[in-house]
Amino acid sequence: MKKIIETKDIQKTYVMGSEEVRALKSVSIQINKGEYVAFMGPSGSGKSTLMNIIGCLDTPTAGTYILNNKDVSDMTENELAEIRNKEIGFVFQTFNLLPRASCLENVALPLIYAGFGKSEREEMAFKTLDSVGLGDRVHHKPNELSGGQRQRVAIARALVNNPSIILADEPTGNLDTKTSYDIMELFHELHQKGNTIIMVTHEDDIAHYAHRIVRLRDGLVETDTINPSPTRGKVAVVTE
Ligand SMILES: Nc1ncnc2c1ncn2[C@@H]1O[C@H](COP(=O)(O)OP(=O)(O)OP(=O)(O)O)[C@@H](O)[C@H]1O
Ligand SMILES: [Mg+2]
Repeated sequence: MKKIIETKDIQKTYVMGSEEVRALKSVSIQINKGEYVAFMGPSGSGKSTLMNIIGCLDTPTAGTYILNNKDVSDMTENELAEIRNKEIGFVFQTFNLLPRASCLENVALPLIYAGFGKSEREEMAFKTLDSVGLGDRVHHKPNELSGGQRQRVAIARALVNNPSIILADEPTGNLDTKTSYDIMELFHELHQKGNTIIMVTHEDDIAHYAHRIVRLRDGLVETDTINPSPTRGKVAVVTE
């Protein structure tokens, strides 16, 4: 299988005044194309720090990060921006949508930087919104949608450029249980289509959708295990 992500002894130290926080002490992991991985671990263990480095939003203090066979530390700011835009789709816990823009405009936004014309952008954004079940909400603004619908808009925005990697930091952190499972259903479909997915979650039942679970603790990988029977499709929610 093709290796898409490789970190070698990645370290990240934040300096705050006279204090140093060693957010990542040494992390070496490999992720192949098409894998579905969950990062777990206690608060402060370094999950978001690692995700931000993998997503080229931040750089390690030491160590090597190889993305698609290229050493990220050799890349210029422009190259990094291009990778973030074309190769990586981000989904955040707080959705990060533009409040005054419609769903269509929110999803079309990354396509502006990618250089597509207006009609093409709208067509691509519409198709992607439709694919996440929001074809009938394209002109709504984020505050006119439910939490789950907002997250689906954010997922559509992450997908619209057809990125090779989807990074989701606690994508269900602000959603109720049923809506969380709907979003996981969507991730399951994306994975089936061949996307590489890495998500951070605190919840065991959400992590169980992933095919591999990496647990971090104190800036180190504590365990890295294959999930022999990932959850597929919807979980029946029992209501009494
Ligand atoms: N920008 C920053 N400046 C200084 N310290 C930081 C910064 N970002 C994170 N840290 C520290 O680095 C450590 C790891 O943080 P990180 O956000 O990666 O944890 P996490 O595993 O994502 O936690 P959570 O589950 O609470 O989201 C923490 O001790 C945190 O306080
Ligand atoms: Mg975090």
